[in-house]
Amino acid sequence: MTENDFLPNVYQEFPLSGKVTWRAPSNIALVKYWGKKPVQIPANPSISFTLDTCATTTSVTFTKKEGNADFSFDLLFEGKPKEEFKPKILTFFERIVSYLPFLKAYHFDIDTSNSFPHSSGIASSASGMAALSLCLMDIEKQLDPTMDRTTFNRKASYLARLGSGSACRSIHGSLVEWGIHENIPQSSDLYGTEYPFAIDSVFKTYQDTILLVHKGEKQVSSTVGHQLMKGHPYAENRFQQAVQNLDSLKPILASGDLEGFIQLVESEALTLHAMMMTSMPYFILMKPDTLEIINKIWKYRQESKVPVCFTLDAGANVHMLYPENVKENVQRFIDDELAMHCENGQYIHDRVGKGAVKIND
Ligand code: DP6
Repeated sequence: MTENDFLPNVYQEFPLSGKVTWRAPSNIALVKYWGKKPVQIPANPSISFTLDTCATTTSVTFTKKEGNADFSFDLLFEGKPKEEFKPKILTFFERIVSYLPFLKAYHFDIDTSNSFPHSSGIASSASGMAALSLCLMDIEKQLDPTMDRTTFNRKASYLARLGSGSACRSIHGSLVEWGIHENIPQSSDLYGTEYPFAIDSVFKTYQDTILLVHKGEKQVSSTVGHQLMKGHPYAENRFQQAVQNLDSLKPILASGDLEGFIQLVESEALTLHAMMMTSMPYFILMKPDTLEIINKIWKYRQESKVPVCFTLDAGANVHMLYPENVKENVQRFIDDELAMHCENGQYIHDRVGKGAVKIND
């Protein structure tokens, strides 16, 4: 498919007003997206677990307005007007208006909230952009009722990507791949697709506990972070490594090879941080507590043989990934030894989820 395939059909109807609500989950990458080309084309393919508890719920109320010259919208975040978010939405609307020309025909009241605590340092752009894109697609479906489900989901992912790259992996469950990979059928740089190969049942109920080491603003925004890969001395090798890691993951996922999974996932996380430490300018996004936690996880795993591992996004928080059948042991370990390294002792238990859902008001 090409970008032109996402241009709309002629709209059949123009309802005067309406309201739609969607809940979209966050996701955690196993093979990381880090580096991109204009516009929002990933430098390498990536794959993520879709989460369940960490999610954004967005309602969009639309009212037909006079004239088609400008965008018109108001934004509530957690029930309060949020002017700071408006420029990001405006940029998003400008980027997607050729694919959704009705955007200038309506006034929109966008009401959005997250299930996770505000400023917990968890990226909300993935779930936020996915939920908003699904709401907009739902409106487009009312204008073009002939649209089928595959087109709906694919275009929702396509639009979400234009808002934030990783958001395109937050439409479907439970494992989503994004980025062209010659050995992955249907893979695309334009949108995320459900992982097409066998997945052992152990991964279908995998757990993710997010240890909130540092809840403040990210030290490096992902937009700046991706740019650090331009002219980076190790960039080409890193992009190749991500391609290879997706190949290596195939038998691991199919057979439930937890040792292989742990090695690949932890190496990906540390490589992401290594890229940031070796870029110009350079950054260390881990905190001392991040390292304490990693060392304790390694020691615990060695001593207990419990197959728990960590991954990181572009910040100090630690995602602990583990099978459901060791949940009680791991949660005891977290309370006894890891919660002390979290800001205010806070962490969030999450698990692999099934993707975004429409909420009927
Ligand atoms: C480290 O999707 O937040 O979480 O496209 O600039 O919005 P933009 O970046 P974003 O980058 C996510 C980077 C990551 C790895 C990943 O999720 O694959």
